[in-house]
Amino acid sequence: MRFFIDTANLNEIKEAYELGVLDGVTTNPSLMAKEGIAGKDKVFSHYKAICNIVDDNVSAEVIAVDYAGIIKEGEELAEIDPKIVVKVPMIKDGIRAIKYFSEREIRTNCTLIFSAGQALLAAKAGATFVSPFVGRLDDISYDGMKLIEQIRIIFDNYGYPTQILAASIRHTIHLIKCAEIGADVATCPLSVITSLLKHPLTDSGLAKFLADHKSVNI
Ligand code: G3P
Repeated sequence: MRFFIDTANLNEIKEAYELGVLDGVTTNPSLMAKEGIAGKDKVFSHYKAICNIVDDNVSAEVIAVDYAGIIKEGEELAEIDPKIVVKVPMIKDGIRAIKYFSEREIRTNCTLIFSAGQALLAAKAGATFVSPFVGRLDDISYDGMKLIEQIRIIFDNYGYPTQILAASIRHTIHLIKCAEIGADVATCPLSVITSLLKHPLTDSGLAKFLADHKSVNI
């Protein structure tokens, strides 16, 4: 399973990349706003800065919600760098735009997926990735992980090449369950990736190893 980081913070992206386990970045308008990135020029140069850190797969989301606007904005975003994946919302004009982009070999990430039917539609339109939001489904008392299972079955049934990019991942259990189910990618905050490092027996075991080493190497 590939790991993407879900942030627009350059320091966090660098930290995850330096760990050697980062396969991409997902951003959204909320994450860009959190970093105070505003205005087309600044937004575009920020995407370029992200592309300069990682090897591939930088999702950049369109703001337009009409077909012509999504096409124009998506083509401009794709021009920034070959690493850009155009992120398109799961709406009618978004699906049409995904079809347009797929016919022109522009990679897409269909975002705000909350049902298996939405994922199926995006796959049929030729989306490179679909982003089901696990945590936000859990928030409203649906089983977000169940959606990942459903989409995995559907895509495998028909051999859709569209990759499942599990998003809105809030903790390590989400991440592990995605790996068990067979999500292609999980995107999450840096804190979730670094939480994978932690186990109290690792800490106590290492402390004992170092203490024993020191006891005979004074
Ligand atoms: O990038 C979209 C998604 O990962 C958002 O996560 O935590 O805001 O639901 P969250």
